[in-house]
Amino acid sequence: MLDIIRSLPEQLIGASRLEIPDITRAGYRRVLVGGMGGSAIGGDVARDVFRDVEFSIETIRDYHLPPYALPGETLFIAVSYSGNTEETLSLFEQALERGVDTVAITSGGRLAEISRQKGIPLITIPGGYPPRGALGWIFGALSMVMGGAGLLEGVEELLNETGRFLTDIAEEIEGEESLSMDFASKFYRRLPILYAPSDMLSVALRWQAQINENAKQMAHVNVLPEMNHNEINGIKHPPEVMRRSWVVFFRDMDTHPRILKRMEITRSLIEEDVLGIDEVESRGGSRMERIFYLIWLGDFVSYYLAVYNREDPLAIPRISHLKEALGREG
Ligand code: PA5
Repeated sequence: MLDIIRSLPEQLIGASRLEIPDITRAGYRRVLVGGMGGSAIGGDVARDVFRDVEFSIETIRDYHLPPYALPGETLFIAVSYSGNTEETLSLFEQALERGVDTVAITSGGRLAEISRQKGIPLITIPGGYPPRGALGWIFGALSMVMGGAGLLEGVEELLNETGRFLTDIAEEIEGEESLSMDFASKFYRRLPILYAPSDMLSVALRWQAQINENAKQMAHVNVLPEMNHNEINGIKHPPEVMRRSWVVFFRDMDTHPRILKRMEITRSLIEEDVLGIDEVESRGGSRMERIFYLIWLGDFVSYYLAVYNREDPLAIPRISHLKEALGREG
């Protein structure tokens, strides 16, 4: 898993060279990304990286395609790394039945098969990774599709620059003295509580999912400003849990000044009730670089935490058993 995590910069650069089939340029108002787990997070990251575009990017993690997925104004992108995830296939079929312009991103499976049969634009990404370890390919392919649809410009260059930026900081982000190791030691035998500004929710979700899947550990996520209107009151009970929790606030140069102020006040209000609090600031030039810096940091944290927890970061036995059991039930 360590080598897979290390390969993120190469994946982003590799994705910039993916061959993108012709995609209709319909001036879409909305991009809906259908996927689950390690495939879905690419859609969340795209929403946060491309925060300032004039169309919406939303991830659907469900069986049901919402009625506002309308032909002409929606581009639906089905993402399943394995190509066999039933929720994603259900969304894909509904999009095709409804006549919504659809693109598929996968390494194979049923999604690739159906796309080939029906002539749906298909982007095949390399196989052999665990889905969550292919985020560079998945996010890169999604960005390239949006570029191909005429919705984004300069995607190849942004992916390349981000890959190069991460390569340049690779030696600092891992190892005994790194920030990632520091966070892993703070999270060991504790409950990580991760707070992001709303426009960086994907960072907190990625840390959570990586901690869950790689380290087999619980983590909690919320966003500011919303948590200031409810959850801030709850950081008290049960005290046995709260006093074993470690809070992290993510921040970025684009974070709204009032959110930064809120973080400062929140910190002072909760510090007696939790074990520790840290803030982590993004690094890099473009928004893509800054978001991927935080994501990569969290990927290493989850790996070191898996080592602390004596868990195999690659194994996901419960997810696999659940899929098998559902497959048997039909
Ligand atoms: O990380 C994982 O293995 C999971 O979260 C999967 O991504 C999830 O179960 C969906 O599978 P897929 O990505 O193959 O569609």
